[in-house]
Amino acid sequence: MVLSNYSHLLPVYRPHAALDDAERIAWIRADRWLETARARGALARLEDLLSYPARDRMPCLLLYGDTGMGKTKIIRKFLRDHPACFDRGTGVTSMPIVAMQMPAEPLERDVYGELLSALGAPGPMTDSTYRLKEVCRSLLRSMSVRMLIIDEIHAMLAGSFRQQRIFLNVIRFLANDLKVPLICAGTDLARQALLTDPQLAERFEAFHLDRWADNSQLSQLLSSLAGILPLRRPSELGTAAARRRVLDLTQGVTNRVFRLIETVAVEAICNGSECITADSFANDELVLPLVSMTRHMERGLQRRASR
Ligand SMILES: Nc1ncnc2c1ncn2[C@@H]1O[C@H](COP(=O)(O)OP(=O)(O)O)[C@@H](O)[C@H]1O
Ligand SMILES: [Mg+2]
Repeated sequence: MVLSNYSHLLPVYRPHAALDDAERIAWIRADRWLETARARGALARLEDLLSYPARDRMPCLLLYGDTGMGKTKIIRKFLRDHPACFDRGTGVTSMPIVAMQMPAEPLERDVYGELLSALGAPGPMTDSTYRLKEVCRSLLRSMSVRMLIIDEIHAMLAGSFRQQRIFLNVIRFLANDLKVPLICAGTDLARQALLTDPQLAERFEAFHLDRWADNSQLSQLLSSLAGILPLRRPSELGTAAARRRVLDLTQGVTNRVFRLIETVAVEAICNGSECITADSFANDELVLPLVSMTRHMERGLQRRASR
């Protein structure tokens, strides 16, 4: 192996480039957090709400965007930044932030059931809805919860109209009763559903995760990736051609951008080129990592063929 200082990589990532191929491929495929400009904005907004003084009507936030735009990633990162902590002296666990998933159906008792498991206290689900609600309320207080997050809020749309109304009442109850900011994350459909309740529409501020476009934020994302991926030669991800190819293949969806770059990076290791260039994306044999991307490509090809 040629000795190199891999100066195209950020200093802490340079040692990775010296690892063998299998290790580097595993590293590329591993889960990681990358702070994009929009994600940073969302986290700052969440921090701001967390430090909001308690008052009767706490502001609420709807984090919305298409599937794969990184909503759940942002929530997980925020949870890591504010973990639960156990006080040995008092024997009490405090949990500054509780994040729960929407149940598959928007049933009131399932919502409280999910909330209880998010609080680490899955209770007997045979209890009455009223009882579950009371247990949630008292736990949220005793654990000093300062923010409640509900992810995948669009799952409420799986319910009947009546179930959706009842679910919105639960949300309204939580927002009014707990005096903590309520954060909901979901798709644009979730936003439309929330807005059908005038009181909630009044309370919720919306934060949209925009799809990537050909601008400096995308350049930054691609250059961050070029600075961390353990390839031995400098990549050319900063060019307009590379940006256009990435946008063409991903329609600007965060998840697809990450998967695409990972795929071409692994390919660059396998074929020995050790760098990503605009040509890496032109490779016909590139197995597109996501079904959604393949489908889009096929539609594009069909359109071209039918012209
Ligand atoms: N900030 C980020 N850093 C690293 N990977 C990310 C980031 N945002 C999104 N991703 C990638 O996109 C995938 C989908 O993100 P996710 O948060 O599940 O989207 P959503 O909840 O909006 O549907 C993640 O599994 C991850 O691979
Ligand atoms: Mg999600």
